[in-house]
Amino acid sequence: MSAGLLGVGKFVPSYIMTNEELENRMDTSDEWIRTMTGIEERRIADDDTNTSHMAYYAAQNAIEDAGITAEDIDLILVATVTPDRPFPAVSTMIQHKLGAKNAAAMDISAACSGFMYGIITAQQFIETNAYEHILVVGVEKLSKITDWDDRNTAVLFGDGAGAAVVGKVSEGRGILSFELGADGSGGKYLYQDDYLHMNGREVFKFAVRQMGLSAENVIEKAGLTKDEVDYLIPHQANIRIMESSREKLELPIEKMSKTIHKYGNTSAASIPISLVDDLIDGKIKDDDVVVFVGFGGGLTWGAICLRWGR
Ligand code: UT7
Repeated sequence: MSAGLLGVGKFVPSYIMTNEELENRMDTSDEWIRTMTGIEERRIADDDTNTSHMAYYAAQNAIEDAGITAEDIDLILVATVTPDRPFPAVSTMIQHKLGAKNAAAMDISAACSGFMYGIITAQQFIETNAYEHILVVGVEKLSKITDWDDRNTAVLFGDGAGAAVVGKVSEGRGILSFELGADGSGGKYLYQDDYLHMNGREVFKFAVRQMGLSAENVIEKAGLTKDEVDYLIPHQANIRIMESSREKLELPIEKMSKTIHKYGNTSAASIPISLVDDLIDGKIKDDDVVVFVGFGGGLTWGAICLRWGR
């Protein structure tokens, strides 16, 4: 039996920051942001809502969706580059809050690819029978490391959390293949000192190249062909990058997840948040072949091909 997703959940802050609001704060335009990125609005967390709060809410939803209790969780993996503080880890903070007293806990730093790294780490413990239930959270409060005077980055990001419980699913379903990768030579293109800094052009080129390649690789590793893919959830960073991976897989527009217009780029949270919205909208059915593909700072990347269902 393979590892798969037993339940999912998300949390986004209620405050909506529109492109119009950004127009009033900096030299940008709604038209530029929409055309160049596909973003129309993003959610921004208030001062009282930190990364661990968002992670906790998303985790609660995923645990409920999986039909388990917090005490059933063996391990908590939180993928984030915006923890409340350098340590203790966000995963330990939510372990306490959830009452997951039987769970080990650690954070993962792989930027926007973090949720892919988390799910695949969890898969190893599940398929070796070491653990039964692993909570994986992708969460980011990017607004706290955003330089609001830098229009190159300030318009792109949003806050939020997505979570999944990983465990054994029925024969034929679950994770079929994966690819994880890193190229540290590109670390200079996307990093944080005080604030987040990015060479957008270089990240864009890398993303277009790597997203298509990784998606194709996991389909091949799963022993499938492109026409057997039912749904693609790419990291929601830029609609033009997402479109390039969809075209590479020759998928029609309705077979690609698109939530970037509502949430912007939520980094490690973008794929699980999209997954939750797509499930609510009935876009993914049991036994569908779904491909997740992400990329981000590091540089890092990750893709997963799975057959949906418990
Ligand atoms: O999760 C991973 C994180 N990062 C990414 O995925 C980002 C990947 N990169 C991108 O999405 C794109 O590079 C951007 C959307 C950030 C920028 O698009 P671009 O096609 O690479 O444009 P550019 O940076 O070359 O900028 C084009 C023009 C420049 O003006 P000039 O020099 O041509 O006069 C920029 O100054 O657009 C200008 N510009 C803006 N104008 C209005 C840059 N940001 C803005 C802005 N509003 N917010």
